[in-house]
Amino acid sequence: MGFLCLFFTFSLLFLFSGFGFSQETPSAAPNHLGQINSNSVLVALLDSHYTELAELVEKALLLHTLEEAVGKHNLTIFAPNNEALERNLDPEFKRFLLEPGNLKSLQTLLLYHIVPARIEPNSTSDSLLHPTLSNHRLQLSTEDSSGAKFIGTARLINPNAVNRPDGVIHGIQHLLIPRSVQQDFNNRRSLRSISAVKPEGAPEVDPKTHRLKKPAPPVKPGASPVLPVYDAMAPGPSLAPAPAPGPGGPHHHFNGMRQVKDFIQTLVQYGGYNEMADILVNLTSLATEMGRLVSEGYVLTVLAPNDEAMAKLTTDQLSEPGAPEQIIYYHVIPEYQTEESMYNSVRRFGKVSYDTLRLPHKVLAQEADGSVKFGHGDGSAYLFDPDIYTDGRISVQGIDGVLFPPEEKNKEEKKTIKVATVKPRRGKLLEVACRMLVGIGQDSRFSTCHV
Ligand SMILES: *[C@@H]1O[C@H](CO)[C@@H](O)[C@H](O)[C@H]1NC(C)=O
Ligand SMILES: *[C@@H]1O[C@H](CO)[C@@H](O)[C@H](O)[C@H]1NC(C)=O
Ligand SMILES: *[C@@H]1O[C@H](CO)[C@@H](O)[C@H](O)[C@H]1NC(C)=O
Repeated sequence: MGFLCLFFTFSLLFLFSGFGFSQETPSAAPNHLGQINSNSVLVALLDSHYTELAELVEKALLLHTLEEAVGKHNLTIFAPNNEALERNLDPEFKRFLLEPGNLKSLQTLLLYHIVPARIEPNSTSDSLLHPTLSNHRLQLSTEDSSGAKFIGTARLINPNAVNRPDGVIHGIQHLLIPRSVQQDFNNRRSLRSISAVKPEGAPEVDPKTHRLKKPAPPVKPGASPVLPVYDAMAPGPSLAPAPAPGPGGPHHHFNGMRQVKDFIQTLVQYGGYNEMADILVNLTSLATEMGRLVSEGYVLTVLAPNDEAMAKLTTDQLSEPGAPEQIIYYHVIPEYQTEESMYNSVRRFGKVSYDTLRLPHKVLAQEADGSVKFGHGDGSAYLFDPDIYTDGRISVQGIDGVLFPPEEKNKEEKKTIKVATVKPRRGKLLEVACRMLVGIGQDSRFSTCHV
C-alpha cells in the first residue's frame, strides 16, 4: 500500500509540473525541515471526514503554508462538509478552481476559510471582522430570531467539530467565496461566453450565498426533481460526523480490560511478539493499566517491537529500576493511529512527532522506503507488521526495533559498547527482571521466573 501511495505522489507531482506548477512543487514535497505534532489541527483536518476540503488543500499546495502558520498561531478552520463541496457547488465553478491556471484563486478561496486565531463562536463577540489567511476578512454573526451562528454567509452547523491544542475546526454549511475569486470566475466566464459566440446573460450573483444564481432549467412535467434529495430534506442535526471519541467523559464506558486481553491474545497468535506480550502481562502491570485507560475512554496505539528486536536489548539497558515499564511506555502513543493514518501523515508532512505515555518524550516518525520509520538514526525502527490489531480504541503496530528517547541514546550507545561481547538472546528482559525480583524476594509471585 505504501508503495502505491508513493507512486501516486510521484505521479501527482509529475502531473503538476506538466501543468507548469513546477515552481510551486517544492513546498508540496514531503522533505521540508520542520516537523508537525501529530496532535495538530492540520493533521486532524487531513484525517477528518472533511475529505473534500482536505483534498482541495492538498491540491492547492497549501500544506507548507499552513504548517508554517500553525507553528505561529492557533488556527480556526471553517470547514464546509463533503456534501457542500460535492453536490452543492456549481460544477462550473469547481472546474474553474481546479484548472491549473487558477491555482491562485483556489489558494485564496481556501485561505479565506482559515483565521490565524482561535475563534470560539460562543465566547467571541459578534460583528468582529476576523482577518483570514487570505487578504479578506470574515464576520461572525448571530441570527436574532433563531440564535443561529453564521460566519460570513455560511451557517455554523458543527461548531468545535475538531478541537486540538493548536486550533479548532468548525463545520459550516457551504463554501465561502471571497469577492476577488468570484470576480475572477465571473471574468473568466464572460470571456468564455464572448468567445463562444453563443450569447448568455451576465451571471447573476446571489447576494445571500455569494454564489452564482443559475436559471432553473426547464422541467418537463413528471420529470424527477432537479435538486438532490438532500437539498429537499428539512434541515436536521448537523450532517458532519461527530468527532472521534476522545479522552474521558463519564458517558464513555468500555470494557477496556477485555480489549487489552484481546489484543494480547492476538499478539501471541500473530507470532513473533511473545516477549512484548509476556512483558505486558507477566512482568509488569501494564496490561491492567492499559485496560483501565481504555475503560475510561482513552485510545492507545502500541508500537510493539518484535522478538528479534527485544532480543537485542542489553543487560545494561534493562538494569535500572523500572526500566521495562519505561521502555514500554515510550512505545505507547495516546492516540488511535493505524498504519494508513500514520503513513498519510508522514507522507504529507515529512516528519511527525507523536506523544508517548513516557512524558515528556515524543517519538518521531518519518517516511522511509515507502513505510513509516520511527526514531532517529541507529535507534530507529520500521513499521514492520502493520495493523496487527485495530479495534477502534487500541491499535497495535509491529516494529522491528526497540525505541529510546533521543537524549538517552548517547548514554545507551556507550553502554552498548561496553557490553558488546554479551551475546543477545531471547528472554533477556525477563531474565534480568527476574534477577532483580529475586533480589527483593518477589520472584515467587511470577511463575515465569521459575521456568
Ligand atoms: C493556542 O491556544 C491554546 C489554548 O487557547 C494556548 O494555550 C496556546 O498558547 C495557543 N498557541 C499559540 C501558538 O498561540
Ligand atoms: C453555544 O450557545 C448556544 C446558544 O446560545 C448553546 O445552545 C450551545 O450549547 C453553546 N455551546 C457551547 C459549546 O457552549
Ligand atoms: C505468562 O506466563 C505464563 C506462565 O509462564 C505463560 O503460560 C503465559 O503464556 C504468559 N503470558 C504471555 C502473554 O506470554
